[in-house]
Amino acid sequence: MKATAPAKIILFGEHAVVYNQPAIAIPVNDVKAFATIETDANLDDPVVRADDFGIEHSLNKKSVPGKIEHIMKALNLVRENSNSGFPDKGWRLSVSSKIPVARGMGSSAAISVVLIKIFFKYLKLDLSPSRLIDLSYELEKFHHGTPSGIDNAVISLGAPILFQKEKGFKVFHPKTFHFVIGDTGIGKKTATVVKDVAARYRKAMASYKAIFEAIGSVANQGLDALSLGQHKKLGRLMNLNQSLLDELGVSSPELEHLIHTALENGALGAKLCGAGKGGCMVALADSIEHAEKISVKLSEAGAKQTFVTTLKRGNGK
Ligand code: PMV
Repeated sequence: MKATAPAKIILFGEHAVVYNQPAIAIPVNDVKAFATIETDANLDDPVVRADDFGIEHSLNKKSVPGKIEHIMKALNLVRENSNSGFPDKGWRLSVSSKIPVARGMGSSAAISVVLIKIFFKYLKLDLSPSRLIDLSYELEKFHHGTPSGIDNAVISLGAPILFQKEKGFKVFHPKTFHFVIGDTGIGKKTATVVKDVAARYRKAMASYKAIFEAIGSVANQGLDALSLGQHKKLGRLMNLNQSLLDELGVSSPELEHLIHTALENGALGAKLCGAGKGGCMVALADSIEHAEKISVKLSEAGAKQTFVTTLKRGNGK
């Protein structure tokens, strides 16, 4: 029994989305988190394995290693939200992920989604997309404090979305676009960066509000460009979003370096993606070959890893 969940990137609107502005996120389907459950009648204890950390843990032990706390939270959440009892022996769960951790690619949301999916599958219970979004949001709160909900929504749906905190999401149908993602290699805690923005917002409310609104307007225009296949316009909007993120104080020299490298090599636009202050940037390329070329240049400029991804109508399904 197997479940997967994709990575994601935010194309427009990070941070402003926390303040109820619209934002756009897309799944990155070639980079995934995985979970499997094997049944084994000889297993007296249920066992969980977090392969990336080399941890195998029996659930009958009292103490829980920090690295698998996420799994335990998910299991308890599913126990509370399903009427059928969860078998207390005879199964082994394994979790692993190719999504870089704390780099703005939704690693924690993908683990939340994949765990809920596999537990529901194991219990043979129906799981609607909206239930998956709601349950994974509960787990995201445990990690981030006050997440907007965009990460777990795009990952649950596996489709590009326009998201607004108080309005919900709308799946949209983009034309084809090729992106390159570059990882600075610097991990950051989303909750800390969001808190720092909130502290600066409280000190300069009017100007931060204006920046959030400008970002919201860029996101709305971005939706049109994505839907109509307007490559140059999309690139310009990404650059504009980046300068607004810089004004919010969430860029960093390492991100700027990779962004400039992409632009110098013909990217139509580039910006940080996710919370910023490290993590990843994303650049828009003309073609898949161009995306591969930018990817090589980003690696030469110090990117720890790169991903080329294509957004197209109907992908993610
Ligand atoms: O860096 P990530 O993938 O955790 O994305 C954070 C996006 C923010 O808008 C900064 C926070 C949020 O909850 O939406």
